[in-house]
Amino acid sequence: MLVTGGAGFIGSHLCVELLDHGYEVIVVDDYSNSTPQVLPRVERIAGRFVGAVYELDIRDRRALSAVFDRHAVDAVVHCAGLKAVGPSTRMPVEYYDTNVGGLTALLRSMHDHGVHQLVYSSTCSIYGDAGRGPLDEDTPAQPTNPYAASKWLGEQILADVCLRRHEYAVLCLRYFNPVGAHPSGLLGEDPAGDPDNLMPYVAQVAIGRQERLRVFGGDYPTGDGTAVRDYLHVMDAVEAHRIALDHFADAPGMRVYNLGVGRGRSVLEVVAAFSEASGRTIPYDIVPRRPGDVAELVADASAVAFDWGWRPRRDLADVCRDAWRFQQVNPHGYAGAARRPTQKH
Ligand code: WQD
Repeated sequence: MLVTGGAGFIGSHLCVELLDHGYEVIVVDDYSNSTPQVLPRVERIAGRFVGAVYELDIRDRRALSAVFDRHAVDAVVHCAGLKAVGPSTRMPVEYYDTNVGGLTALLRSMHDHGVHQLVYSSTCSIYGDAGRGPLDEDTPAQPTNPYAASKWLGEQILADVCLRRHEYAVLCLRYFNPVGAHPSGLLGEDPAGDPDNLMPYVAQVAIGRQERLRVFGGDYPTGDGTAVRDYLHVMDAVEAHRIALDHFADAPGMRVYNLGVGRGRSVLEVVAAFSEASGRTIPYDIVPRRPGDVAELVADASAVAFDWGWRPRRDLADVCRDAWRFQQVNPHGYAGAARRPTQKH
């Protein structure tokens, strides 16, 4: 199994899940939003080694093809990409180049090596400002930021490839908000620089790395005026990815599934839950809305439950407990752990 972005937040937790279930795992990552310190932790948790790690840019077809030349890849889980709403409005070209260009480079390498099974990380952000209430997979896509638009373009590319070439099987997973950490405290969300996403920022305020949380918008048409999202424990999210690998043969072509809990929580509810889990006060200021944000995104995840018999098992309290443990064990993130030599081209 090839995991792109395998040292990242989702990817690293996925590697643990796959290793725990007997898979051979090959990782490619450019470490732009992760560090080599992560994979030794993955191996420590799993008690098994990752098969190989390659530091490369997902857009580098030559480097990618060399990986396929060296390893008998049977399927790919594509987690590599840029994923923050806010920065995407400031760096649209980088987002389209990495997320769309990276996908096409991967598809070309897969095609050249006869690999046709792909799990694609997509996002609920493609639904845009679709309004209140749970959203199912038939909700029209109306992305409101370059991040979401780049992921939607990827979905359209994959759908068309599957329409034209019947040997492909693609499972497109539209993540709602993956958050939390591995219960060991060894793996978690530790983005490069100041976090763009809510949960890691809140955790850093709780541990004292950040002074105060900026709550982007207090005037949304929601219960308490702050935006509502569907927060999915990362361990639930990666369990769904592993289960997806058993369903490539269900039907040819591309199938799309929402991955979420089906319950919305506001920013202030997350702050309160984290404060409860950590015993720390989370100071915050209500500031203007963030460009590209929407009021509410909550999943109708009944399709994946019906087709795969899978439902998330963890709630927001579990998320905050595990995220806080990771932050306590790693007050400065992954910095400082022993560096693992990576195989270079
Ligand atoms: C959540 C809410 C912010 C930071 C994410 C990922 C995206 C996709 C979907 C996987 C919003 C508010 C945030 C802060 C805040 N997941 N916020 N202060 O934008 O919903 O998208 O989940 O693909 O990759 O980016 O997540 O955590 O950035 O924001 O008030 O400092 O928290 O406005 O309402 P988002 P987020």
